[in-house]
Amino acid sequence: MFCKNVDRINPLKLINPDVDYTFFCAIWARRFLMHGTCNTVTKINLDSFKTSFPAKLLAGVQKGVMRTQYRSVPLYKSPFDLVLYLQLISRLRPATVIEIGAKFGGSALWFADMLALHGISPRIVSVDIEDLPRPSDSRILFIHGDVLSLGVALPNELLKELPRPWLVVEDSAHYYHTCLAALTFFDACLEKGDYLVVEDGIVAELPQNIYGRYENGPNRAVNDFLSAHPERYKIDWELCDFYGRNITYNPNAWLCRT
Ligand SMILES: C[S@@+](CC[C@H](N)C(=O)[O-])C[C@H]1O[C@@H](n2cnc3c(N)ncnc32)[C@H](O)[C@@H]1O
Repeated sequence: MFCKNVDRINPLKLINPDVDYTFFCAIWARRFLMHGTCNTVTKINLDSFKTSFPAKLLAGVQKGVMRTQYRSVPLYKSPFDLVLYLQLISRLRPATVIEIGAKFGGSALWFADMLALHGISPRIVSVDIEDLPRPSDSRILFIHGDVLSLGVALPNELLKELPRPWLVVEDSAHYYHTCLAALTFFDACLEKGDYLVVEDGIVAELPQNIYGRYENGPNRAVNDFLSAHPERYKIDWELCDFYGRNITYNPNAWLCRT
């Protein structure tokens, strides 16, 4: 019995010849450079937001993202990020998802269903500046509001009713000042263990004739915010680098409040 257990944890037997371990070494080196030996961000710079998506692949993925539907409602997330959210949901088991940027409500509907599949009674709050047709679902509260005045859209009386842990998703205007406004607002209300995901830093790597207007807003905002508050957040490397270095539309932007 004892021998069997030893056998099972023999590290040599864990090495899989089909796996390229240099990939893991590169990922660990990146983590060490940015976190050092502590758990929070120590060094961060804009270069570290680069993804390892090959340009051709990314162009195709983006075309698919813009055509994706969930239960006949447009849903603007990459297949990579949908799986990353699933990893996070099963690990965090968020009782509330707060989303800034609803569009047609596809992501709110998807979050509601995914939480329910995990046996969580979903509370989804989704804020958007535009009034668009959206699914009617008792689990989702759609609120008209501006990311620049979140205190109006999400007053304290509402926030204090929302059970923890929270998963907050900033997916609205993608400009530097709008991302920073969302980061600043939620920084004041997040508790230890809550998550904040700033979406679409990938705009820096998409065709600049269309996406250049965002001027690398999400990445610059996350970079400046984390540099100013290194002790308050941990970048979730498991998620950022799950498929390879920053193979996500949200590079370095899966953040856990510490
Ligand atoms: C990328 S879409 C959201 C996509 C949606 N979360 C999904 O995954 O399917 C961005 C949304 O942000 C909204 N938006 C833009 N500027 C905003 C602002 N200042 N405040 C709140 N919402 C804003 C837009 O109206 C749009 O519906």
